[in-house]
Amino acid sequence: MQVIVVEKGNVHTEGRPCIVLTSFKEDGAHYGNLVAQEDRAALQALADQGRISSKQHSIYYLPTPARPYSGVLVLGLGEKDRFGAEVLRRAAGKAAPLLTEQRVSKIVFDGSPDFPLPMEAFVEGLMLAQYSFSKYKAEPEDPPVCVEVLVISAPTGEAVAALQEGCDRTVLTCESVEWARDLCNAAPNDLTPSTLAYHAETMAEEVGCSSEVLDEDRMGDLGMEALLGVSKGGAEPAKLIVLEYVHEEADRTVALVGKGLTFDSGGISIKAAAGMHEMKYDMCGGAAVLGAMRAIALLQPKINVVCVVPSSENKTGADAQVPGDIVRAYNGKTIEVHNTDAEGRLILADALAYTVDTYKPDEMIDAATLTGAAIVGLGHYAAGVMSTDDDLMAELQLAANATGERIWPLPLWDDYAELMKGTHADLCNIGPPGEAGTVTAGCFLKEFVGDTPWAHVDIAGTAWGVKNIPYLNPDHATGYGVRLFAQWVLDEAMRGL
Ligand code: BES
Ligand code: MN
Ligand code: ZN
Repeated sequence: MQVIVVEKGNVHTEGRPCIVLTSFKEDGAHYGNLVAQEDRAALQALADQGRISSKQHSIYYLPTPARPYSGVLVLGLGEKDRFGAEVLRRAAGKAAPLLTEQRVSKIVFDGSPDFPLPMEAFVEGLMLAQYSFSKYKAEPEDPPVCVEVLVISAPTGEAVAALQEGCDRTVLTCESVEWARDLCNAAPNDLTPSTLAYHAETMAEEVGCSSEVLDEDRMGDLGMEALLGVSKGGAEPAKLIVLEYVHEEADRTVALVGKGLTFDSGGISIKAAAGMHEMKYDMCGGAAVLGAMRAIALLQPKINVVCVVPSSENKTGADAQVPGDIVRAYNGKTIEVHNTDAEGRLILADALAYTVDTYKPDEMIDAATLTGAAIVGLGHYAAGVMSTDDDLMAELQLAANATGERIWPLPLWDDYAELMKGTHADLCNIGPPGEAGTVTAGCFLKEFVGDTPWAHVDIAGTAWGVKNIPYLNPDHATGYGVRLFAQWVLDEAMRGL
């Protein structure tokens, strides 16, 4: 999608666009200066009859076949004091299927000049809602009609440049979300650790990052038994994917680590059959940090970023890891594997310890579809976050507020860490069943980050299966985290200035 910001007086209707108007409770629809007098009268009459509402998420489309514009869409945005970016993001999500149905490929957004809107959120809602995935269909249906051009009328000339820049960044970021979602939705016989590494390296080259993929021999030399133990049951070899974005003038480095489990059967502690196919999404954390890296490399903030994705399958097999196995992680700590289905923390243990040791980041965040307990606790509307650093937690909260990718804090108290001690090894990979599974998993990971300020984001609930958010499709991965982490890194670069 292309966004063109134009000063109010200079907006034209070539290309027969659909004109998008907004309506707040307080002052009703704002008709802009493109809609013909007769249509304004019609819209006003419809509003008087209560057919056009200014309630949040209400939407009305008036076809205008005889005008230079193809139709007028009115988005209800509710009360001004309850308005925020997410309202507009969701309104755009609501508008998207209607625009597709009406075969609209160009829109002009003609908002009210006295209440400037966070237009980046509109761009996000529209782009995320228009995502489709048909890679595997033998005969893809006609590609859905999408909005290709969005013209935004800016209230003043001075506003044009900043708004254009903001929207351009948003477009690049949303394209990175799409890139990540394609990986997440890919089938596990197609997306293996090797092909994930291939896609990551190809992307890195396109956006100008350096990349390195460590194979199993290398990981063995480095002492990554925790990661390699998980990989033993599968035929596909594990990979440790590393991307680096370097800014010449930066003096700080942050790390993004993501779980890249391309299929989680549970291993010998095998999962129930129902819903097991969803475990192809167990690499969504890896896709999220890679997608964020893509956006970061394109947006060029003044900071260095290293992105590390441990990638493996978790399968059964003659050589598969079994309950009772003890492995030694990269940092020397030993782990008793009591449940082979708690594999995410094993591959992350090595990845986190390796990242800290090799890159010495100033701050580190990991994202993982780590525990079913995160869904029990928070459902699909927030990721659970644990951090060793209050400032980092607060920074992440700011990025979450800005992007609408919600987080909610959970503790990392020592009482929980105590539950992860091993009997015959230093650590056990599971805690007592039914007791704070998300937190105990976080405490386990904490053993591998040393003193580095670190936050762990459990995205088990937010990565897919999200219902009732108009810009997300419950049948697709959400790409959760791409926008959150890219935002955090951009903010972090600004804070460092
Ligand atoms: N990938 C799963 C977590 C998961 C489950 C995410 C369902 C999304 C939906 C993870 O590897 C796992 O199996 N975790 C176990 C841990 C348990 C054995 C301590 C879980 O949550 O049941
Ligand atoms: Mn598992
Ligand atoms: Zn898993």
